[in-house]
Amino acid sequence: MTKTLTKSLGFAAAVALAGAVVVTPAISAESGGEHHIAHQQWSFAGFFGHYDKDQLQRGFRVYKDVCAACHGLSRVAFRNLVENGGPEFPEESVKALAAEWPNQITDGPDDEGKMFQRPAKLSDRILGPYKNEKEARAAQNGALPPDLSLMTRARNTHNEAAWPMHILLMARDIATGYQEGGANYVYALLTGYHEAPAGFKLADGMNYNVAFPGNQVAMPNVLDGGPVNYADGQEKYEGPKASQEQNARDVSAFLSWAADTSLNERKRIGWQVMLYLLITTILLFVAKKRLWAKFH
Ligand code: HEC
Repeated sequence: MTKTLTKSLGFAAAVALAGAVVVTPAISAESGGEHHIAHQQWSFAGFFGHYDKDQLQRGFRVYKDVCAACHGLSRVAFRNLVENGGPEFPEESVKALAAEWPNQITDGPDDEGKMFQRPAKLSDRILGPYKNEKEARAAQNGALPPDLSLMTRARNTHNEAAWPMHILLMARDIATGYQEGGANYVYALLTGYHEAPAGFKLADGMNYNVAFPGNQVAMPNVLDGGPVNYADGQEKYEGPKASQEQNARDVSAFLSWAADTSLNERKRIGWQVMLYLLITTILLFVAKKRLWAKFH
């Protein structure tokens, strides 16, 4: 029994390892149109993965300078930007940021029973520019820019490789604890704009994109207008150079954090629990040996 178990475990590990070793830079498939979403390396992927604080700071900058013009982040509060395990901006600068955020908070009623607008505080959510869906659609040619708070959890990538490869890729992701399909998708979407191929019928006001299902997306290539400058306003900056690709990567990482703010803490506690269980197991094993020793 134990032998069979060891054997099958060994087999499972071998399959997983093979999956991990197979080099698979891209999963592409022909599902109606062109579809291309590559598998990316992320600092927060895997059992030991953690967010890179500097990357989250850069990603927030991209969100603020570009995406916030159309998208809200309504499940994230300004105070979250200060907390451990996130971008960890200094509290004072986030207070100032909240106070200057262009999309103010509707509060009230005041003494006369009227609702009023006030600047945001640390405890308020990060609102987008539109008060409701109708206003958003009216401004965006009928399309709705969705709230980005949970976007990297709401989207994923389909593994459309042929089945033997599919199993290997799945085994690789399980063996390495990789579940960043959502971040891969957002990154692919932001870097996936190019000219529509000849013969492709693009509707008015739509843009060709290789990652978006159906290949026509209402969102323009928003990172095209020159990279968001990371060094701006900082005395010493030694991080990566800003480029469209780097902006896309950083904002995808930032949105992954927005959708899962407790990842760092969760993984830390997870490993502590594993260690605790390991020690308990050893103690129980030794205790069992001692207790039963005299009956042998
Ligand atoms: C000019 C307005 C505008 C800006 C700026 C903008 N978007 Fe969008 N975005 C849209 C619209 C409109 C849609 C809806 C597209 C559709 O349904 O065809 C959208 C959709 C999306 C989606 C969802 C795609 C899907 O699978 O449904 C993501 C993710 C996204 N945007 C990310 C971003 C990020 C990240 C940024 C900043 C780098 C950004 N957007 C900046 C207008 C914008």
